[in-house]
Amino acid sequence: MASVRLARQLPSGDVPSRLATSKDAAELLDFLSDPSVHAPIYSLPKPLSHAALEAFIDDHLEQRARGEGLLFVRPDEASKIMGYSDIQIWPQWAAAELGGAIRPDKQGQGEGIKGAAASFTWMFETLGLDLICETAAVDNIRTAKLLDHLGFVRQGQIVSTSSDGTKRPSLVWEVSRQQWADTHGLEF
Ligand SMILES: CC(C)(COP(=O)(O)OP(=O)(O)OC[C@H]1O[C@@H](n2cnc3c(N)ncnc32)[C@H](O)[C@@H]1OP(=O)(O)O)[C@@H](O)C(=O)NCCC(=O)NCCS
Repeated sequence: MASVRLARQLPSGDVPSRLATSKDAAELLDFLSDPSVHAPIYSLPKPLSHAALEAFIDDHLEQRARGEGLLFVRPDEASKIMGYSDIQIWPQWAAAELGGAIRPDKQGQGEGIKGAAASFTWMFETLGLDLICETAAVDNIRTAKLLDHLGFVRQGQIVSTSSDGTKRPSLVWEVSRQQWADTHGLEF
């Protein structure tokens, strides 16, 4: 998808997120090392290390070139990383999944839902998707509330596999382009 290869920024709050580059590996490691950030996320490298994150970032730059993935970091007012977003795209289905996290001191204050709503709208508008699919650990209450609240529809349960082979049950949600437009009063 050409739109993926051209993407440089992701709306995600007051300051847009920017593409992650290998220079971000050290700060991203620092940000992700807190279990309240990384523990609920199956798609991150396990174990986390500087080398693993450099490879994760490089892999996402290759995914971007193929139109299949994007990795963004979200700076705060002082340009420190306060969040990240990982978009996986299946161009053959015009479908994608958004994963991510925000820093613990910014969690639970409405930042997540505001940023996620802006990011999902951008994904439909700019990437031209037909469907967004989301998964979350069955005990990830904040993510479940966030997705239910934004109009995603529960689809059941699957098993998610991490990079180290560990498995966990995940709840699944979907929202179509039309459902998103109707729920949020948008015209695409
Ligand atoms: C998931 C995450 C992005 C949500 O962002 P957030 O800013 O913390 O959440 P919000 O403040 O926007 O709240 C989202 C919903 O959870 C509720 N909530 C917030 N904190 C909560 C808590 N401690 N317990 C229960 N519910 C809570 C909010 O009321 C809101 O629900 P509502 O829309 O029905 O009012 C963020 O918490 C995070 O980074 N968590 C760690 C990583 C993670 O779980 N990522 C998602 C993996 S799929």
